[in-house]
Amino acid sequence: MDRLRPDGVPGRLRPARPGHPRRARGQPRRPQPPEAADAAQLPIYGTRVLLEAGLGIGVVKESEGRYQLTKIGVFLLRDPMTRANMDFTRDVNYLGMASLGEAVATGTPAGLKVFGEWRTVYEGLAQLPEPIRRSWFGFDHFYSDGAFASTLPLVFRRKPRRLLDIGGNTGKWARACLRHDPEVEVTLMDLPGQLRNAEELLRGAGLLDRVRFHPADLLDPATVVPPGFDAIWMSQFLDCFSEAEIVAILRRCAAAIPEHGRIYILEAFWDQQRFRAASFCLQMTSLYFTAIANGTSQMYRSTTFLACVEAAGLEIEAQHHELGMSHTLLVCKPRSSTG
Ligand SMILES: C[S@@+](CC[C@H](N)C(=O)[O-])C[C@H]1O[C@@H](n2cnc3c(N)ncnc32)[C@H](O)[C@@H]1O
Repeated sequence: MDRLRPDGVPGRLRPARPGHPRRARGQPRRPQPPEAADAAQLPIYGTRVLLEAGLGIGVVKESEGRYQLTKIGVFLLRDPMTRANMDFTRDVNYLGMASLGEAVATGTPAGLKVFGEWRTVYEGLAQLPEPIRRSWFGFDHFYSDGAFASTLPLVFRRKPRRLLDIGGNTGKWARACLRHDPEVEVTLMDLPGQLRNAEELLRGAGLLDRVRFHPADLLDPATVVPPGFDAIWMSQFLDCFSEAEIVAILRRCAAAIPEHGRIYILEAFWDQQRFRAASFCLQMTSLYFTAIANGTSQMYRSTTFLACVEAAGLEIEAQHHELGMSHTLLVCKPRSSTG
């Protein structure tokens, strides 16, 4: 339907134009697809079946012999969250989701092969073609970016001087931290492809002098989490792993964090949502992790996730809910820590 966008006339597919067939006297008004077909530069037949499907799903309605966008139609075209979700569904998930059954049965991202031969989508992120790459990042960033403003004061309450951002991705959280506190130094730990993008972003922001990069694969059990940081930050990172992998990563974080330090985990849990629609979206997002991302991870129920945190020897000092659109911040410290 993208090419059937209204042409500057909210709620209408196109204004009436002279020269189009007029209704004969006594004939019932039937919506005319030719105008929309012209506007979208599509055949009349194809336009008609799409518009009639749109009637069925409530995206358009008939009014005075014309097709009009409904409120749902306007949201599908204009609402930033809906756009992020729809683009992600179409570009990243649609083809690979046909392999969901195989993914469930084998615990492998069987749908990922439509894009390339990688073990996980993260290995291939930097090489994904457009618009797949843009839609992946658009979806990821829409949710985490929205939580950063309310999370920054919670993390900087303890004035960390050195912060380790694991799964730092394109460097947007690092940039927010560096702008928030002119004294903090941030180290980004991620797969090498992602760190190249982050370096570009932070160079563009003129912030490279307080940033370090630590390329590493956290799935490799030999990868050590570097010590000496006052804060370890992981946003939308641990949901990229199975429960056993989460425990293994958190154990390494627990070993690396000093007494006074804290581990901050930002996640969206489907059982911590105020609205059922939000829980629904998160539960459905899990199927992307199964079929495309890695075949083993998901958007977690908070109790499943908290059990992993405990199993890693961490104590949860505080939980902050309803940050941004849907996130919870867990503030953790090693169980023995008194700091
Ligand atoms: C869903 S993104 C989250 C990005 C960012 N922290 C945010 O909040 O938007 C997950 C990040 O974890 C990284 N990642 C996934 N698997 C990894 C691995 N095995 N080792 C290191 N980083 C990994 C990905 O490259 C990606 O940058």
